[in-house]
Amino acid sequence: MTSNVLVVDFGAQYAQLIARRVREAHVYSEIVQSTISADEVRAKAPAAIILSGGPKSVYEVPAPSLDPAIYELGVPILGICYGAQLMALQLGGDVARTGAGEYGRTVVTRGGPSRLMGEWSTTTDCWMSHGDAIARAPEGFVVSASSPEAPVAAMENTDRRLYAVQFHPEVAHTERGQELLATFLHHVAEIAPTWTNTSIIEEQVAAIRAQVGTEKVLCALSGGVDSAVAAALVTKAVGHQLTCVFVDTGLMRKNEGEQIEETFTRQFGVELIHVKAQDRFFDALAGVIDPEAKRKIIGELFIREFEAVARELGKGGDGPRFLVQGTLYPDVIESGSGHAATIKSHHNVGGLPEDLSFDLIEPLRSLFKDEVRHVGEELGLPAEIVWRQPFPGPGLGVRIVGEVTRERAEILRNADYVVVDEIKKAGLYRELWQSFAVLPAVRTVGVMGDGRTYAYPIVIRAVTSDDAMTADWARLPYEVIESIANRLIREVDGVNRVALDVTSKPPGTIEWE
Ligand code: XMP
Repeated sequence: MTSNVLVVDFGAQYAQLIARRVREAHVYSEIVQSTISADEVRAKAPAAIILSGGPKSVYEVPAPSLDPAIYELGVPILGICYGAQLMALQLGGDVARTGAGEYGRTVVTRGGPSRLMGEWSTTTDCWMSHGDAIARAPEGFVVSASSPEAPVAAMENTDRRLYAVQFHPEVAHTERGQELLATFLHHVAEIAPTWTNTSIIEEQVAAIRAQVGTEKVLCALSGGVDSAVAAALVTKAVGHQLTCVFVDTGLMRKNEGEQIEETFTRQFGVELIHVKAQDRFFDALAGVIDPEAKRKIIGELFIREFEAVARELGKGGDGPRFLVQGTLYPDVIESGSGHAATIKSHHNVGGLPEDLSFDLIEPLRSLFKDEVRHVGEELGLPAEIVWRQPFPGPGLGVRIVGEVTRERAEILRNADYVVVDEIKKAGLYRELWQSFAVLPAVRTVGVMGDGRTYAYPIVIRAVTSDDAMTADWARLPYEVIESIANRLIREVDGVNRVALDVTSKPPGTIEWE
């Protein structure tokens, strides 16, 4: 059984980052709500607990608290920022509303002895974000560091295995932050670093085998990372019982279908049903301009196509009982509880009809996106699939502004290939959240050779982002923009003009529709 670290969430996005950093130290971590009781903690038998930061002040009413009996369990605890102040307050120390907070890079100066910062030099740059500060450590604690506005920037009680830091070790700007977390996990809590890609795969393969038994499994491949890695895991577990379905809507990226077929059929030997549904999608989209209407048509038709395959496979009563879903850990925690998560994952497939009842297999449910990519690599999926940028479900359909036609989809697909190819050549593909082409269905006049042209413009859209909630337009080097533009005009028939989108999100969205 893998050792587990509980990250107690006091709000905002702090807990997710901490959980990811713990896993980077090869220790499994799970995020729990701050309302968790000591009994519930005991039942989970964690090897350590980390209390996250949060946006509130400990003096706000109501401010999230922690069941004080948790401090008595003997489990090593590390409090961070809000978590540190809460620990100080609950154990009898003082937290002061100084009014002089610290935000950003702050010099932290070592004080007394410290198991956490044993090797640190006298001063270290750390990332702070606090208004209140611990003014006096609780009895039994030694103060091991301070900063200009935080007399207790770090404190510890080694007998009770309680540790706290005012700064954020999970943030990259804290010079030795990751090292501090690793020290806490590996040396203080004595957790072996066994959470690796190999162990994730072994655990999931065993779990899938136990869940599936001898039943059959169905998986819809979209060309995206998550469904591909989920399918690869299921293949490793119960290969011959799996059937994959790839519905080609005519709105996929260049070579996407071939890549899927090559990987899953030839490399993995999986049974793959490649539904060539392009005509039906273009027919259904004829004359439709409204973005929401397009989304709805594409989503519903996708389900109908998928349903037709499932029914066909189910003839004779020997059909698949399980459906693979690429649900990730952030989907599970965002929806807060197991129940809500299930609703969301059903929603992910676009709401499969009720009479098509499957049991779900969700092998990525405990993983973050970066872990999914590494697992995919380890399973032997090609880098082009594993490192592919996100692509919307409705595909090129929401990147053609106006009516979607076969001709426009072909132009956009070729243009998109050029944009991505040049971005890759410039070594920028993994740095960017997304980079793609947009085709506004208007035509403009140009001149090429001796002739006048009347053709489509292509808009280059490239953004940086952490989570797609906000995004900034990418400052691509002029040379890259130039080579994209030259190639688009030269190589893509039907294009005579290139523009660059310099809109951030907000106010824009990443996609154009
Ligand atoms: P926007 O355009 O809203 O997109 O800034 C945020 C992220 O979501 C993706 N996206 C979609 N994904 N179905 C999807 O599966 C959709 O209908 C859809 N619309 C946008 C988009 O590519 C970006 O990563």
